Amino acid sequence: MQNNVLILDFGSQYTQLIARRVRELNIYCEIHPFHKVPQDLSGFKAVVLSGSPFSVRAEDAPHPDLSQIRGKLPMLAVCYGAQYLAHFHGGKVEPSETREYGRANLSVIKDAEPLFDNIKENSQVWMSHSDTIKELPENAVRLASTTDVLNAAYRIEGEETFAIQFHPEVYHSTDGKQLLENFLVHIAGVEQSWTPGAFVDLTVAELKEKIGEDKVVLGLSGGVDSTVAAMLLHKAIGKNLYCIFVNNGLLRKNEFEDVLHQYKDMGLNVKGVDSSARFLDALAGVSDPELKRKAIGNTFIEVFDDEAHEIKDVTYLAQGTIYPDVIESISVNGPSVTIKSHHNVGGLPDFMKLKVVEPLRMLFKDEVRRVGAELGIDKTLLGRHPFPGPGLAIRILGDITAEKVRILQEVDHVFIQGLRDWGLYDHVWQAGAILLPVQSVGVMGDERTYEQVVALRAVESTDGMTADWVNLPYKFLQKTSNTIINRVKGVNRVVYDISSKPPATIEWE
Ligand code: XMP
Repeated sequence: MQNNVLILDFGSQYTQLIARRVRELNIYCEIHPFHKVPQDLSGFKAVVLSGSPFSVRAEDAPHPDLSQIRGKLPMLAVCYGAQYLAHFHGGKVEPSETREYGRANLSVIKDAEPLFDNIKENSQVWMSHSDTIKELPENAVRLASTTDVLNAAYRIEGEETFAIQFHPEVYHSTDGKQLLENFLVHIAGVEQSWTPGAFVDLTVAELKEKIGEDKVVLGLSGGVDSTVAAMLLHKAIGKNLYCIFVNNGLLRKNEFEDVLHQYKDMGLNVKGVDSSARFLDALAGVSDPELKRKAIGNTFIEVFDDEAHEIKDVTYLAQGTIYPDVIESISVNGPSVTIKSHHNVGGLPDFMKLKVVEPLRMLFKDEVRRVGAELGIDKTLLGRHPFPGPGLAIRILGDITAEKVRILQEVDHVFIQGLRDWGLYDHVWQAGAILLPVQSVGVMGDERTYEQVVALRAVESTDGMTADWVNLPYKFLQKTSNTIINRVKGVNRVVYDISSKPPATIEWE
């Protein structure tokens, strides 16, 4: 990939954000851990060093050899990176005397410096460090200061090496994106050619080249990632892509039929497999949430394995893996222990022994959506709320029966359809209904009832890691509650969940 930017990760919580900001400038970039600098740097046009939770003065801190990079490629060192350059090249880094965390303003900016083009004095920046650069490294020129931080930015004379103490990647640094653009576009000359259209063309060509006439099998879930992955492969290899869409009986009302229909309209070679009964059997009598997840995961593997065997001579398994999953497994801290414990090669089902192809592995979620739009995928499919793999099973607290699934599907349908009808669906990140293992007394007509309670949950979030409940209009809640109780037999009470995550989670199980 030409026009590539290398982000060397020193373990900062903000490294992914740097990548996102760079991609927002339509520039392609890759994150690599500091101890695995790519051997071949010929495709890279510029390098960004990330921040880090470490102090450069600590013995166990990242101390990579940058001799292959420094002075050879334009470099922007952020926070830890800035301290690293100072500490090892004649400067001095010491613990800060004042608190240097949070908002600050650039009080002085040196004139006529391309890194600060279109950035005015007083611009707000975000600081997050406990060490400070007391003395600049050799040949350094100070570019900016704040009230508390004298050396907030510097460059090295005679090199295209720049260093900043603040974080341009966080939104609180108001001109952070401008600074990244100044560095990448105006100083390093990187082209802004990374667009969804360019990604589609390049990826389709690469997939064609890689896969040739071989066959690929892919599990569709109805979600955005697997759908976009399928459409890219479809564009590249057409009928040699075999998609399998499994109905686990825990999807939303009519979802299996509706989505299968949409897939067929999109020209995908897709087989719908209704295995609802098999999943319900596996779940019979299971109440523990983790055991439910296991039962569903294992049954899915069995069904998928059976189906994959029906296709002769398959070579590849395609997956909708996206970049945050990849970063997690290659991060400075390495893959998590649980990921490793699944690598039980001897016992793997046959389809897992196939070669893996992951066309979205370098994309963030919002980029996947933009690529999906470029491929002409329907807006309603691309804008769908996230839905957990185990589906309604983790929204039915306690054990699962066909009747409980039916009740929850009806309740969920009223809620979700209501959100759409009221124009609220796109303002909510995720919504759903939960069937509680509680019965309560009610009165309908002259009759006393003793029926189920359901909870409604609607949250706003960006990535599901944190979330807050949505302040849905009372009128909407009133109407929805009424419709549910009138229409869904077996439910006589509706409550609305007003807990944030943390301390609660989005799902109840
Ligand atoms: P929690 O409940 O952990 O949910 O706040 C965060 C996000 O993850 C989804 N979720 C799952 N997705 N399998 C999935 O594929 C699961 O077992 C699972 N559990 C939670 C949840 O819907 C939310 O989007």
